[in-house]
Formats: sequence, structure tokens, C-alpha cells
Amino acid sequence: MKKNIITLASLLLILVFSCGEKSTSTAKDGTDSTGKACLAPSDRNPNGASELASLMRVMEEQTEIWKKEILENTPALSPVPESFSTLKTASVTDADMKNENFDGFADDFISYANTLVASKPEDRKTAFNSLVGGCMTCHTQMCPGPIKRINKFYFE
Ligand code: HEC
Repeated sequence: MKKNIITLASLLLILVFSCGEKSTSTAKDGTDSTGKACLAPSDRNPNGASELASLMRVMEEQTEIWKKEILENTPALSPVPESFSTLKTASVTDADMKNENFDGFADDFISYANTLVASKPEDRKTAFNSLVGGCMTCHTQMCPGPIKRINKFYFE
């Protein structure tokens, strides 16, 4: 029993240290552990939100609309907004925010969106969760700030 407690305690210590390490390394990328830099680009960019940040707000709103439509069992979900096609070309607040996986994750995200709007009513929740997973995959690597906000979209 005592041994178990010691193992548990050292596991906890490792966990605490590795999490601490993670937040300092993301801080070097210009994002802190709360992701403020990513949520408030206007502080760093006097010209206002970047094209990508503005697009992200549209994407977030559209995700909210789709969730509402699914809950209300709307006969047809609203179409994928035209602006989503600029995901790969939209200018970013800081080039370091993107890594080499960005374009692949962007393609995945668009294909999840297309699958969602075409899915049968009984498949909508699963397709929607895949879409939210698409937001998550990219944000886990590139802009951790909004993760908490994105997490709230998932259907249980
Ligand atoms: C392919 C990668 C990728 C995908 C997919 C993605 N994001 Fe983003 N997101 C980013 C990057 C990079 C930024 C930082 C943009 C900037 O500051 O120029 C960002 C910024 C944001 C922001 C902050 C915007 C602001 O006002 O500064 C929010 C909120 C956000 N994303 C939500 C979402 C949601 C919700 C989804 C899914 C519907 C999503 N993102 C999908 C990469 C992605």
C-alpha cells in the first residue's frame, strides 16, 4: 500500500513537471498557457484581427449554427460558407502560429464540414463531433488558447 502511494506521488510529480514544461515551451511560440496571444491578436497586430483570425470567428459561429440546427432537427443543415475555402491562404497574425501540418489539417477540416452537411439526420451528431475533432487536432498543435471553447461544442 505504501509503495502504491509512493508510485502515485512520483507519477503526480512527473505529471506536474511535464505540464509545467509544456506551458513554458508554448510561451516561446508567442502563446501562453491561457492562449491569450491567440485569442486577442489585436494586441499584437494594430491593424486588427488577421484574415485567419476573422475566418476562425466565422467558423466558430457556423459551428454554433450547425449544432443548433442538429438539436432542432432542421431538415437541411446550412451549407458550408464560401469563406471556408480561404482557410489555407488566409494571412495569419504571426507566421510561427502555423506549422507544416497546417494545410493537411485544413483539408481534413473542410472535408469534415462537407461530410457533415451531406450526412443523414441520424449521422449528424457523429459527423459534427468529427468536425469539432478537426478544430481540436489543429489547435492542439498550433494555437492552444481556444481549446476550452472548442471542447464545449462536442455532443456527449
Ligand atoms: C488547420 C488549423 C485550424 C483549424 C482546423 C481550426 N483552427 Fe482555429 N485557429 C488556427 C490558428 C493558426 C489560429 C490563429 C490565427 C491568427 O491569430 O492569425 C486560430 C484561431 C482561432 C480562434 C481565435 C480567433 C481570434 O479571434 O483571435 C478561435 C476562437 C478558433 N481558432 C476557433 C476554431 C474553431 C471553433 C475551429 C473549428 C470549427 C477551428 N478554430 C479550426 C488554426 C485552426
